[in-house]
Formats: sequence, C-alpha cells, structure tokens
Amino acid sequence: MNRKPATFPIGIITSGGDAPGMNAAIRAVVRDGLDKNLLIYGIHSGYQGLIDDEVDEMEMGSVSGIINRGGTILRSGRSMEFYKISGMEKAYKTCMKYGIEGLIIIGGDGTIRGANEFHKNFGINVVCLPASIDNDIYGTQYAIGYDTAINTAVSALDRVRETAESHERIFVVEVMGRDSGAIASAVALASGAEYVFVPEEKRNIKELVSRLVQGVERGKGSFIIVVAEGVSSAYDIARNIEDKTSRETRVLVLGHLQRGGPPTANDRILGSILGAKAVDVLLSGEKSSFIGIEGTDLVVRKLSQVVGRTSEYPRKYYELALILGK
Ligand code: F6P
Repeated sequence: MNRKPATFPIGIITSGGDAPGMNAAIRAVVRDGLDKNLLIYGIHSGYQGLIDDEVDEMEMGSVSGIINRGGTILRSGRSMEFYKISGMEKAYKTCMKYGIEGLIIIGGDGTIRGANEFHKNFGINVVCLPASIDNDIYGTQYAIGYDTAINTAVSALDRVRETAESHERIFVVEVMGRDSGAIASAVALASGAEYVFVPEEKRNIKELVSRLVQGVERGKGSFIIVVAEGVSSAYDIARNIEDKTSRETRVLVLGHLQRGGPPTANDRILGSILGAKAVDVLLSGEKSSFIGIEGTDLVVRKLSQVVGRTSEYPRKYYELALILGK
C-alpha cells in the first residue's frame, strides 16, 4: 500500500438516516487513518456540515467510548442544498480550505447519489460505505445498522407476543424499511409471525383472514402480523382484520425505535472492517468507490456501478415466514 505524507487530509461524513454501527465505522476510520499518519477531519451534520464549514480535526480521543453507541457522533442529516450545484460548490470550497484530498462517506442510497454527483462535478475522491437499517443498498449483502434494527424489532415482538397470548389478541406491527421488505421479512421469520406484508409482493388480506380463521379453529390464541411501512398503514390493515373477523386487533408502530440502541456485535464488526478498508481504498488512489460485503469478503466497486440501483429483498425469508407461520 502507498504510504502518504503525514498530512494527507481526509474527511469523514455520516449522512441520511442514522444507523447503529456508524460510530464503529467512524472510530475505525479515525484510528486506522491516524495509524497511517493521516490528518482526519470530522464533518458534522452530513453534507450540510460540509456546505456550512462544520469541520473539526479528529484525534484518537475523539472516538473513545463510541463503539457501543447507536446514532452517529458526527450527527447526520438529509441536505437538500447539497443536491444543487451551488450547494456542492460551497462544499467544495470547504474541502479546499482544509486541503481535503478525499472523503469517506457513510450512508444510504441518497447519500451515495450525492457522493457520486459531488465526485463527477468537482473531482473530489470519495469512498462510500453502506449504512441503512433498510438494507436496500445495491452492491452489499449487509448495510451497517440492519442487524441491530432487526434484532431490536424481534425483541419488541417477543414482548408483544407475551401480552398477545395473555389476551388472545391479534397484533399488527408496522416496521420500517421505506420501500423495502428486507426488515419485515427477516423480522417475521425470526419472531415466528403468523403473516407478513411486504411492498414487493401482492397484498393478500383474504389469505390472511382465512389463516386467522383456521388458526382459531386449531386453538391458536395470538397472532402477529408484520407490515412493512412501504405497504400501507398498520391501522388500515388492523381495521380490515377487525371488520372481517370481529376479533380485537391492536396496532404497534415500531418507528424510530428501530434506528436507535447499542449496535449488535455484527454491526460493530461490519462498521470497523468497512471503516478501515475505506482508508486503504482512499490511499490506494481510487477516485470514486463503494465498499460492500459479500459473505465475509469486502468487495470494492466503482461508485457508478452502485448508484441508482437497489438490492433485492430476501424473498426466501418472506416465503419461509409464510410457510412456518401457518
Ligand atoms: O432509511 C431509514 C429510515 O429509517 C426508513 O426506514 C424510514 O422510512 C425513514 O428512514 C424515516 O426517515 P425519517 O427519520 O426522516 O423520518
């Protein structure tokens, strides 16, 4: 690997929806970068911080005690201004002010689009790392934050199951995921839910109702229906169920609870290995890259191959959840 002079300055940004494990990635970039004699600047509040010159030099101590914390110590945001050339121009001026030679950018698909545009228009070298609880980013099997989010949702559903059983109730639980069923299908499978709705598949209330009826006939007391937010409101589905079955149905919208909390070991490890790899990729002179993971292998791709595409949701989990939840 090419060792650069001690002052080679790079910036690190977290952008878009925060995801547990972002802090592990920040820590890895800072500590690995310092180990390689780089100068590391933390950019606050996503791309907006680059526009507004919210930049601080980071030291070993800047990332102490953060690997176990959800959120992002750099803060995050979705900047509309950055998507205009005038916004990018201000961001570029900030990069020039600090002599920033490359950016490590951690976020989801909107963030990746922004990085690609910034590189194309202003030539700054960028390395993107996937982070989104939705796990819908093309070019990686896992994004930072997904594992924690599904574990958080599953432990919430375990609790709901206990009260649902005690009262013989139906619960409709809405999970996040934007337009993807990745969270819903994994959570349904892992929590033993009786049914799951995802945006990628046709909605089938009739099938759900006939399963509920058959379940009751077999002596089943509680039912948990997982709904991805991209399908429709959990309240609509619950009303539909109550109309058709006359059974008491409760709704739980997990919402932003799924974005917080201590990252799982998997997300801490993923953040750490991606962060350290990003430093190497920037130093190797790559101009615009994306790093994903397939199995246990890190895969470096051109950013242009990833941008504007979305990954497949795990249909196998969905199909199996429906079979096993009968
Ligand atoms: O992309 C992550 C995500 O949490 C989605 O699952 C959800 O649709 C969206 O962000 C919520 O965005 P906000 O935090 O802006 O309400």
